[in-house]
Amino acid sequence: MIILLPVLLGIFLLGGAFIPAHEKARSGPEDPIARKVDSVLALMTLEEKIGQMTLYTTDWGSTGPTIRPGYADDIRAGNCGALFNSHTAAFTRELQRIAVEESRLKIPLLFGFDVVHGYKTMFPIPLGQAASWDMEAIERAAEVAAAEAAAAGLNWTFAPMLDVTRDPRWGRVMEGPGEDPFLGAAAARAQVKGFQGDSFDNADRVLACVKHFAAYGAPIGGRDYNTVDMSERTFREVYLPPYRAGVEAGAWTVMASFNDIDGVPATGNSWLMGDILRGEWNFPGFVVTDYTGINEMVSHGVVANEKEAGELAVLAGVEMDMQSAAYQNHLKQSVREGKVPEARIDEAVRHILYTKFLLGLFDDPYKFCNKEREQRVLLSQEHQDASRDVARRSIVLLRNEGVLPLSKEIKTLAVIGPLADDKDNLIGAWSGAGEGRHCVSLLTGIRSKLGKEANILYAKGCEIEGDDQSGFAEALAAARKADAVILAIGEHKDMSGEATSKAMIRIPGQQEELARQLAATGKPVAVVLMNGRPLVMPWLAENAPALLECWWLGTQAGNAIADVLFGDYNPSGKLPITFPRHEGQIPIYYSYKNTGRPFNPDSKWTTKYIDIPNTPQFPFGYGLSYTTFRYSAPKVDRAVFRRGQEVKITVTVENAGRLAGEEVVQLYLRDLVASTTRPVKELKGFQKIMLKPGERREVQFTLTENDFAFYTRTMQWAAETGSFDLMVGGSSDEVQTVRVTMIE
Ligand code: GLC
Repeated sequence: MIILLPVLLGIFLLGGAFIPAHEKARSGPEDPIARKVDSVLALMTLEEKIGQMTLYTTDWGSTGPTIRPGYADDIRAGNCGALFNSHTAAFTRELQRIAVEESRLKIPLLFGFDVVHGYKTMFPIPLGQAASWDMEAIERAAEVAAAEAAAAGLNWTFAPMLDVTRDPRWGRVMEGPGEDPFLGAAAARAQVKGFQGDSFDNADRVLACVKHFAAYGAPIGGRDYNTVDMSERTFREVYLPPYRAGVEAGAWTVMASFNDIDGVPATGNSWLMGDILRGEWNFPGFVVTDYTGINEMVSHGVVANEKEAGELAVLAGVEMDMQSAAYQNHLKQSVREGKVPEARIDEAVRHILYTKFLLGLFDDPYKFCNKEREQRVLLSQEHQDASRDVARRSIVLLRNEGVLPLSKEIKTLAVIGPLADDKDNLIGAWSGAGEGRHCVSLLTGIRSKLGKEANILYAKGCEIEGDDQSGFAEALAAARKADAVILAIGEHKDMSGEATSKAMIRIPGQQEELARQLAATGKPVAVVLMNGRPLVMPWLAENAPALLECWWLGTQAGNAIADVLFGDYNPSGKLPITFPRHEGQIPIYYSYKNTGRPFNPDSKWTTKYIDIPNTPQFPFGYGLSYTTFRYSAPKVDRAVFRRGQEVKITVTVENAGRLAGEEVVQLYLRDLVASTTRPVKELKGFQKIMLKPGERREVQFTLTENDFAFYTRTMQWAAETGSFDLMVGGSSDEVQTVRVTMIE
């Protein structure tokens, strides 16, 4: 026990047991932690308070686990309350030691890091996980990520990223839950639960951080960091729900987004950080900026200098400044000038100190810094198994002309492509402390699946990008000798992610040409796509004998893909985002509105392009299986129901094929006549079920009045009477409909 004299004295006089966060977070002044926080706050100078509001990155990226002299001085002087990009038990222990032994008040540090889809054991990118539509799998991935991060000295992750997006030109689409608010909200709950668990006294969970608040995924032109401008109605109906779900699930921190929305940068937006976050959602934790988000408000043009930017941010409700040092450099002066009341500083610091008490860091600052646990937990076999399971569930079968599953008795197999024997790209973007060298490549996964007797021919064929086709001959020769071909192509892990917006989202380089030439050999070719964003691939989408969307699947990618290729796992993924035929269609999404001139092929004067169809290449919710699922016509328990009554809709799903498989049964709703225009369909429920061959099962959804509600003409969240279409099926474009009517 580190003797934190002044602090401990204040604390032990107060006593107080632990109360689980979700209860404590909203408890009143009798809250024992609140009293402890006040006792510490009373000891602090204004400089020390501002220090708690400052978050720095250590130079881990360039220096590795060494301490740049500046950090040690800053920590000793109480100039920073949290560090990020600092991890491993040893490195965080040393930094924490300086804080709790050499600073005046010995206040422990928070350690944050982008553990978005894994710390050391990597899981599929979040867009891939969303494709599983499997909330248990998503929660498990976050739980393992948290366990490894916490074992490595971290107590805070900058995740889940919950930015809905309808624009795959935006590279960070790989990091979020896709295009739909309902699926996004479900993924939000699952991730927050996985990262944080049910109480903060757990040393293998970390603080979650809902980001990027808000609507960062809707930049004009799909260009990262660009302006976001939309109606409040669209904002509240499409973009807010996942953030809200994350906060309501108990996420303890929120990160402000870089973008402006409706003319006000999120980092200085009191409507977002005050009215909505604190007022409507009763958020109990603290708000952190994104990287230098405060400074950037000068470029946004809403303040003249960094000092004004700091004032705007802190008054808007932003408590911690990531890396801009605006609070450190100017806030003291702002308080002296009366521009910022010290009471506002106190409120911000209370939120931060409360968090540190909640995590138990005052009682045991080193609870996350255990080297023995770190060695035992990271990359454990249990975690590899979890990663492989989540990865398999994330794979989406887009095409299969009788090619898959391949037989394990195959005599000669050609494994081709720049991503066939690649490891580094399997961890994707935002890969935490993940390392490619720990990954199982596709070639390795296939070799371990088929064993030594299989004759496997490997050829790279080409690079991911560039015009060089010199490797084609070797690849084609291998294909001609083989009974089947597996072609692994896609994106480099730096092609999707932050600051990677692209105007053209084709398959890079010569990869698609290689696919064409391999297909021309007449051999059965299974194309394995590894990518971070939806890609425009018209030839593959219409000609590949088999096509698997495998995203970036993480450490166990090779084994997971081999499980699917050879039928040890029947692919069950469904697209969480629309795949366009062409960039010119973007934004394109399933929940579009009908317009006054809905598309009619027989009329020129209707909403369409004259050069390509309106329909996407692959729609939201789409994904094939090695078996066939048949749906009965949906039935409702009442076709006419009163406001406030529930409606139950039931469908029977049958596995009409020879293989067991999982199906994602999707429920959509359409409000036929309302006080505003409404989407032609909105996801309102889904259930992922496993069916054996020949098995039939009734699947039921219960709809309440809230499921029929929307922001009416007067922006009231309410359901309006009238008729609705309820639609059920295995894809947004393959549904059966039943009509119901709500009356008063
Ligand atoms: C980045 C990202 C944010 C991340 C932060 C810290 O710029 O926008 O998602 O958490 O910086 O790495």
